[in-house]
Amino acid sequence: MTRPIVIAVDGPAASGKGTLSRRLATQYGLRHLDTGLSYRAVAQALLASGQPLDDEALAVEAAGAVDFTVFDPSVLSAHAVGEAASRVSVFPPVRRILVDKQRAFAMDPPGAVLDGRDIGTVVCPDADVKLYVTASPAVRAGRRHREILRLGGQADYAAILADIERRDARDMGRADSPLRPADDAHLLDTSQMSIEAAFLAACAIIDEALAARN
Ligand code: C5P
Repeated sequence: MTRPIVIAVDGPAASGKGTLSRRLATQYGLRHLDTGLSYRAVAQALLASGQPLDDEALAVEAAGAVDFTVFDPSVLSAHAVGEAASRVSVFPPVRRILVDKQRAFAMDPPGAVLDGRDIGTVVCPDADVKLYVTASPAVRAGRRHREILRLGGQADYAAILADIERRDARDMGRADSPLRPADDAHLLDTSQMSIEAAFLAACAIIDEALAARN
């Protein structure tokens, strides 16, 4: 049987890695996992039951109960849940539990595109292709701001930018599995690039890697 194809896509909040990963999964006939949702599910379980976010034992219990098949992105995508997720994701035992589940998902044939912060460095260090998608904080904040306005919501650009910078600092500064490009990751800086251009650049990198594998 052929080995599953694994594509790792990492990058900071609002870098466009989620949209890119979904398109890549469709393009290559792979399953897709947004690993951020698994940390968000832990945070949401604690928020929903009014429990503190800084209690490691409670977070571990919530992580054990996480089931990737029942994620509700409409609840998990809330801003407050993302902020809370970045707090519970600092606990090493929480990460170990979720990483085991993420690896099992990746290795199920025919393979998968996983996006997150530590896919190329920790979850799937042997991935066939590793992409690190980034853009300047100002560009990411601008995209998120426009997206909220487009959906009819209200948003303050300065607050979004401050939030992105705080989240970057926490994700890059934590001791366990900090956000950073793997040594063998391909960097895609989308500051000056459309989603379409980023998709085409990613496909070129993946096609070359898959041709070398066959
Ligand atoms: O990508 P998303 O914004 O949904 O991630 C929410 C939070 O979950 C991130 O800020 C990060 O702290 C955490 N996370 C992580 N490792 C991943 C994916 C997300 O630590 N692989």
